[in-house]
Amino acid sequence: MLLIAVTVVAQSCYYDNKAENYGSSACDSANPTYTANIQPIINQNCIGCHGSSGPSGGVSLHTYDLVKAQALKGSLSGTLKNTSPYSLMPPGGKLSDCKIGQVDKWIRNGLPQ
Ligand code: HEC
Repeated sequence: MLLIAVTVVAQSCYYDNKAENYGSSACDSANPTYTANIQPIINQNCIGCHGSSGPSGGVSLHTYDLVKAQALKGSLSGTLKNTSPYSLMPPGGKLSDCKIGQVDKWIRNGLPQ
C-alpha cells in the first residue's frame, strides 16, 4: 500500500516538472525571429481573419512583408495591447504576455526574418 502511494507521488512530481520545462521553453523571447516565433503566432491567432482573400479590415498578414508593414506603422503592437486608437486583436481576447513580449522584442530587434 505504501509503495503505491510513493509511486503516485513520484509520478505527479515528474509530470509537474515536465509541464514547467515546457512552459519556460515555449515562452523564450530571447531572440525571436519571424519564421521561428512570429509567423506561428500569426498563423494560430490571426490568419483566420487576416489571410490572403477578403481579409478583415483589408489587412492581410500572410507574408513577412505584410506583417512588417503593420509593425512599422505601430498597428501590430497597438492592436495586441489594445492601445488607443486600435481595437484589440485578436478580438476574442488578448494573447498571453509571453507572446506579446515576443512580438515586442522582435520589433525592437529590427524585425529579423
Ligand atoms: C475574428 C477575426 C479576427 C481575428 C482572429 C483577428 N482580427 Fe485583426 N481585425 C479584424 C477586423 C474585423 C478588423 C477591422 C476592424 C477593426 O479594426 O476592429 C481587424 C483589424 C486589424 C488591424 C488593423 C487595425 C488598424 O486600426 O489599423 C490589425 C493590425 C489587425 N487586425 C491585426 C490582427 C492581429 C495581429 C491578429 C492576431 C493576433 C488579429 N488581427 C486577429 C478581425 C480579426
